[in-house]
Amino acid sequence: MPVRRHGGVKWPAELKRAVQAGGYACGANTEQDLGPMVQMRKKDGNMSLLDGKKYHIITFGCQMNEHDSETISGMLQENGCGEVPSAKESDITIINTCSIRENADKRFFGTLGQLKKIKEKNPAYIACVCGCMMQQQHIIDTVKSKYPWVDIIFGTHNIHRFPALLEKVYREKQKVLEVFPDSAEIVEGLPAKRLYQHKSFVNIMYGCNNFCTYCIVPYTRGREKSRSPEDILAEVRRLASDGVKEVTLLGQNVNSYRGLTESGKTCDFADLIYRLDEVEGLLRIRFMTSHPKDLSDRLIQAYADCDKLCNYIHLPVQSGSSAVLKRMNRKYTRGQYLELVEKLRAAVPDITISTDIIVGFPGETEADFEETLSLAEAVQYDSAFTFLYSVRTGTPAAEYADQIPEAVKHERFNRLVDLINACSARKNAAYVGRTEKVLAEGVSKKNDRMLTGRTEGFKLVDFAGEKSCIGQIVDVEITQGRTFSLAGRVKEPIPGKKKE
Ligand code: SAH
Ligand code: SF4
Ligand code: F3S
Repeated sequence: MPVRRHGGVKWPAELKRAVQAGGYACGANTEQDLGPMVQMRKKDGNMSLLDGKKYHIITFGCQMNEHDSETISGMLQENGCGEVPSAKESDITIINTCSIRENADKRFFGTLGQLKKIKEKNPAYIACVCGCMMQQQHIIDTVKSKYPWVDIIFGTHNIHRFPALLEKVYREKQKVLEVFPDSAEIVEGLPAKRLYQHKSFVNIMYGCNNFCTYCIVPYTRGREKSRSPEDILAEVRRLASDGVKEVTLLGQNVNSYRGLTESGKTCDFADLIYRLDEVEGLLRIRFMTSHPKDLSDRLIQAYADCDKLCNYIHLPVQSGSSAVLKRMNRKYTRGQYLELVEKLRAAVPDITISTDIIVGFPGETEADFEETLSLAEAVQYDSAFTFLYSVRTGTPAAEYADQIPEAVKHERFNRLVDLINACSARKNAAYVGRTEKVLAEGVSKKNDRMLTGRTEGFKLVDFAGEKSCIGQIVDVEITQGRTFSLAGRVKEPIPGKKKE
């Protein structure tokens, strides 16, 4: 399992002192103990203490967290553990937390409270918490003081160490805390138990250097580190040979990806897309998230040149007001954003565009907000995630004096959502009668006689078709456009299937 070092952060010497105060042991006693090898014990033929244990993972937050949970799951399965569908049935429960907004924090504490009853009935039960919330000292302090029955606390930089931490708890009957402020390494080759058979997330980079003034992520995920293009290509080739048709490349700002090739050259994000476009068996490439300030002309060109790159972009704008964008530290103006959209549409006329918007950022005036409405109207988004601004302790905007009253935020939010939804519904209605290429992902959750999948433009489609289509890209005739999805039926003949 290669470990790529990226310089910088060292073993935090003060960690040991800090954790002992709370009755938790350190995960490792010295820097040497921090090797990532423990989870491979099973492969070496030795029995693991974890053999036969049942685990359950609860995941909050973004795709990054979902993918981390896939890795945790993969490591546990390599050690002989099996996944169960509820915490009640498990020997080990892991809550992978998100801290992006206050309600994410609240949901975590609510869920954590419920695990206490399981622990009371079964003292051998192990409760573990990890993820972005655990990268904040005030949260760790709260867990230690109010939820002392939590057995393992670990962070976003040492997921690979989780099997070792679990073994320590079983062996030494001690609670363990191991959280690093940042990490200089990328651990390659960790297993992952994929959530989906035909599509997969692939991390291309970790961390964020942007420090948007509202955002906690740079504090919870550390500084940017890019994986090498060879490591990414090898992973994508492996996935493709295992039946994966679509990969989503993950990074907080994929546009600032800078990988180092084996020969020491820099590979930027557009270069990476061109290289991935060559992977045999892979049919679709997506990515998220793309920061407007770093979106290059070469990436726009890649949409035109690379068949596998889906004609879809998630391009978070956050606000339509240049004054608010400045205070958010986004480093682009309303005008620059609109120019980007124009360029994208000129190069890729059928591109679908989605976004993230924050309502009620400190100091947002009615006039600022109206600029957000008019920008959304001008861009005509296919969809948008809209958020009420949420104060995050430790971020610069939390200290801004001119916080917006909740009632004003909600009133603006509702106006924005009405505009966004009307636009989505209008756009989706225009698909009726069109034929779209859809990757059939599985049986619809709402109706087991229907299949479900996504168009190239990332629109969710429920459609009538045979189960044999699953895992293929099929032509679907769209019969209905709803606000958040489409409905349709597979056009005959199904590719690769002879007509009787
Ligand atoms: N790296 C991505 C965003 C990750 S967070 C990017 O820069 O686009 C996902 C979204 O959560 C952000 O785009 C933003 O709209 C929202 N968000 C982040 N912090 C927030 C906060 N404090 N309050 C409300 N929404 C927030
Ligand atoms: Fe947060 Fe900004 Fe980084 Fe996105 S780019 S993760 S919004 S700081
Ligand atoms: Fe993702 Fe939430 Fe962390 S959005 S990066 S899990 S704070």
